Amino acid sequence: MNPAMLTVIKLGGSVITDKSKPYTVRSSNLKTASAALAKLYGEGYDIVLVHGGGSFGHPTAAKYRLHEGGLSPEKVRGFSETRYWMTKLNTLVVEHLLRLNVPAVSLQTSAIAVNSGGKLSRISLDVLREMLARRLVPVLYGDAVIDLSRGFSILSGDTLAARIAVELGAKSLVYVMGAGGVYSKPPGSPDARLLREIAENDVLTVGGTHGVDVTGGLREKLAEAFYAAKNGVRVCIGGVNFIEKMVKGEEAPYTVVKA
Ligand SMILES: Nc1ncnc2c1ncn2[C@@H]1O[C@H](COP(=O)(O)OP(=O)(O)O)[C@@H](O)[C@H]1O
Ligand SMILES: [Mg+2]
Repeated sequence: MNPAMLTVIKLGGSVITDKSKPYTVRSSNLKTASAALAKLYGEGYDIVLVHGGGSFGHPTAAKYRLHEGGLSPEKVRGFSETRYWMTKLNTLVVEHLLRLNVPAVSLQTSAIAVNSGGKLSRISLDVLREMLARRLVPVLYGDAVIDLSRGFSILSGDTLAARIAVELGAKSLVYVMGAGGVYSKPPGSPDARLLREIAENDVLTVGGTHGVDVTGGLREKLAEAFYAAKNGVRVCIGGVNFIEKMVKGEEAPYTVVKA
C-alpha cells in the first residue's frame, strides 16, 4: 500500500439515504458514488470507504438514546437493533460496489473499535492494512460501539474516517455530503454561498441536520476535518458528483479544509 495513492472517502448518510424517511436508500447517489470509486480503483488508488448511518442508523440509535450511554436491557436491545440496521445498509453499499467489480469488503466498525466516555478510545487497523495490501476496498461505517465507561455509545463515520486517514497517512480524506459542501449559512437560506475554502477561525452559521443525526452533524464533522488537515491529510467536503475531483485535488465547486 502506497500512502500517496491512499484515499479515505466518507459517504454521508444524507447522500446514500433520505434522512427524513426511515430506512430509505438514495440509489442514484449510491450508483454515482460507486462509479467514481470504480474509476479511482481502476486507476490504482487504494480506497477505504466509510459511510454514515443516515435513515438506517440514526432513527434506531435515537429511539434508544444510545448516544447518551447506559447499560439497561433497553440499551442492550437498542445496540443489537442499531447494529442490525447498519449491517443492512452496509450490505447495500457493498452490493453496489461489487456490481461495478470493485472488491469491496465489509468491515464491522464495532468489532475493531471501542469508545470511552463517548469518544473513540481504541481502534485496531491491522486487518484493514492487510486488506489494502491485497487490493481490497474495506467498507466501514458509523456504528453503535462498546463504550468502556458508558456501556454503549456511537462512533460517527466522520470520526472514524478522520482517524483512519491520519493513522494510515492517507493522501486525502473526502467527506461527501448531501448539501454539496460547507456554506456560509445553512443551505436553503436566501444568501447562503458555498465556501471554497474553510479555516478553523472562519465564522459560519451552522444549522441543524435535515432529519435525525445522533452525532453532532456538521460541527463535529468540521472538528474531525481540521484534526485530519493538521495531521497532513488533504481534506475536502463536497457533493457526490465531485468525488473524483476531490480525491485528485482538481478544481471544482467543493470546500477545501485548510490546516
Ligand atoms: N453552513 C452549512 N453548510 C452546509 N451544511 C449545513 C450548514 N449548516 C447546516 N447544514 C446541514 O448539515 C447537514 C450535513 O451534516 P450531516 O447530516 O451530519 O451530514 P452526513 O450526511 O455526512 O451525516 C446537512 O443536512 C445540512 O443541511
Ligand atoms: Mg452526520
